[in-house]
Amino acid sequence: MDFKKYPMAEPYKIKMVEPLKVTTREFREKAMKEAGYNTFLLRSEDVYIDLLTDSGTNAMSEDQWAGMMLGDEAYAGSKNYYHLEDAMHECFGYKHLIPAHQGRGAEQLVSRTFIKPGQYVPGNMYFTTTREHQELAGGIFVDVICDEAHDPNDESPFKGNVDLNKFEKLIKEKGAQNIAYITVGVTVNLAGGQPVSMENLRAVGKMAHENGIKVVLDATRAMENAYFIKKREPGYADKSVKEILREMCSYTDAATCSGKKDFHTNIGGFAACNDDDAATHMRSLVVVYEGLQTYGGMAGRDMEAMARGMLEACNDDTMRHRIAQSEYLGNKLIEAGIPVVRPIGGHGVFIDAKAFYPNVPQEQYVAQALAADLYVQSGVRSMERGIVSAGRDKVTGHEHKPKLETIRLTIPRRVYTQSHFDIVADGVIELYKERNKARGLKMVYEPKALRFFQARFEKL
Ligand code: F0G
Repeated sequence: MDFKKYPMAEPYKIKMVEPLKVTTREFREKAMKEAGYNTFLLRSEDVYIDLLTDSGTNAMSEDQWAGMMLGDEAYAGSKNYYHLEDAMHECFGYKHLIPAHQGRGAEQLVSRTFIKPGQYVPGNMYFTTTREHQELAGGIFVDVICDEAHDPNDESPFKGNVDLNKFEKLIKEKGAQNIAYITVGVTVNLAGGQPVSMENLRAVGKMAHENGIKVVLDATRAMENAYFIKKREPGYADKSVKEILREMCSYTDAATCSGKKDFHTNIGGFAACNDDDAATHMRSLVVVYEGLQTYGGMAGRDMEAMARGMLEACNDDTMRHRIAQSEYLGNKLIEAGIPVVRPIGGHGVFIDAKAFYPNVPQEQYVAQALAADLYVQSGVRSMERGIVSAGRDKVTGHEHKPKLETIRLTIPRRVYTQSHFDIVADGVIELYKERNKARGLKMVYEPKALRFFQARFEKL
């Protein structure tokens, strides 16, 4: 079988199905209005194809489901914790595992352990919950991603890379002692699922360590990043995803990870590190905020599913299929002239909302409006990743105005088929034809933290 010819061929067959509801346009118009033009506030049963997120929405394997029946729900010392620890050692190689209920739980542990109030925390673009926890711990986030990441049309293969000049300038200006650590997200979610090269990770590790600064990996989609390195970086074609991942982690000191993405699980996460004192500190926090240090907010069965899912994700075939689905949808849209972030990233396709709706200004929440319109048009749920997600500056109160104003068509793993993607593409293409009718939104309810989850809007 030559998978070069069929990159999207499923390395699995389907054993259980979940029915979908088809609705009318009138129904969806009403539902969207009631949800305040925020796709997070829709009821999932009113959605036909749900591309809101790839987080916790993936299909588990029979091996993972079998593992769910082997949950050891003891309060302390569950055997599933030890399985998870073994899997983490095998895939990532860090010394200490601190389990958490999901990624943001781990982010809290790491932020509170490593950040002293007033310290800077550089990162390759922000992620919403990551930056929130850094700021809650008193840190000041600084974006040090390469400029290419902000340009949707730049075709560079590793647009997630840290700009070493920006990082060096920050160290010189602020002093290494005033930098808590650098976060490197692999892949970079808000840049469009763009990967970081091994060469860049190595160089970031060197610069950071020469200055006594720690490197914290956001390993949430690290297997996808490893696959991109295999495909795009010279010298890695013959290495396995697992070998590449281990090398990536070797340049870093600690990690946070949402288990709800690459591992195909519905819930879970972890923090990891090599330093004994940091691990002790995180374990003293985990018992307060998450749960005992051997479950961290997860049921034993969830830890088992995550351990098994982690090993499955470290598989070249799993990743080949995964990335091919995103590329299939992305390339269909590119062929139809739809403005999307290029190259197509790992976990979905990001539509450039400013270019899609040129008549709607960013201040009228153009991507939010586009996500709402796409649902009304075709029953497809996407997510805003622009000015609403970026929120406000904690000091000035002004809205952050990100250069990338997108909607994300996020692809859950092993869930949708080629015909679903054809429907999604046709829906987007139809909407593009009507782009001159587009109207912006005004925000009528704005929550203080992570406003995109619960904000409400009205049509202008
Ligand atoms: N880091 C990255 C890069 C993420 O994408 C996410 C979650 C987190 C951390 C936090 O993990 O949700 O388990 O607490 N991203 C989801 C998304 C919500 O839709 O992109 P969590």
